[in-house]
Amino acid sequence: MSTTIKLILGASVAVFACSQAMAQSAQPAADTGAHAPYGFGTDVSKAELAQFFSSIPDGRDLPEGSGTVMQGKKVYDTQCLACHGAKLEGGIGNRLIGGRGTLDANAGEGPPIKTVESYWPYATTLLDYIKRAMPFTAPGSLSNDDAYAVTAYILNQAHIVPDDAIMSKETLPKVEMPNRNGFRNAGR
Ligand code: HEC
Repeated sequence: MSTTIKLILGASVAVFACSQAMAQSAQPAADTGAHAPYGFGTDVSKAELAQFFSSIPDGRDLPEGSGTVMQGKKVYDTQCLACHGAKLEGGIGNRLIGGRGTLDANAGEGPPIKTVESYWPYATTLLDYIKRAMPFTAPGSLSNDDAYAVTAYILNQAHIVPDDAIMSKETLPKVEMPNRNGFRNAGR
């Protein structure tokens, strides 16, 4: 028998023994209200589920809330600027604007520069990404309003929406991203 197979068998025996021990030590009806850190055994709430839920590009199921470009600038300056730069030029975090047209191999514009402005095909998934993944050190901490606002600000700095734009579940899906038609099926 190979070492790998022995290891796998050993691990399954250990897991089995462990589950037996847990089953034996389970105390009926002694719920003190204290749960393990991940809440094993508790009902999952809608808010908890929402953390794992992604909006799809057409904007169905986008969250409630809204935000303006000006509100977004405040969010950006306090929570994003340190990593993405005062002019969204990048730093620790990616460059977020510019590079429009540089992904076209025939454009002759020099090396491709991949940003929200040059690459992202949908504004809806931008909101979704920001809401779930940013700020990098505290993902999921932005309110819906702040996420909409900072999305509005980035789109505005990328010259995609005007200064008076208000982003919400109604307006965001209507934003036309510059690279929307820059994707082709791989034909597999
Ligand atoms: C601590 C540094 C840090 C902070 C603060 C931060 N980001 Fe980021 N951001 C990153 C890093 C690093 C990445 C790349 C993550 C990856 O590729 O997995 C990133 C990626 C992104 C992207 C995707 C860029 C692309 O084209 O792939 C967006 C959009 C973004 N951040 C927006 C924001 C917004 C909005 C905020 C403020 C609410 C923010 N970030 C705060 C570090 C940061």
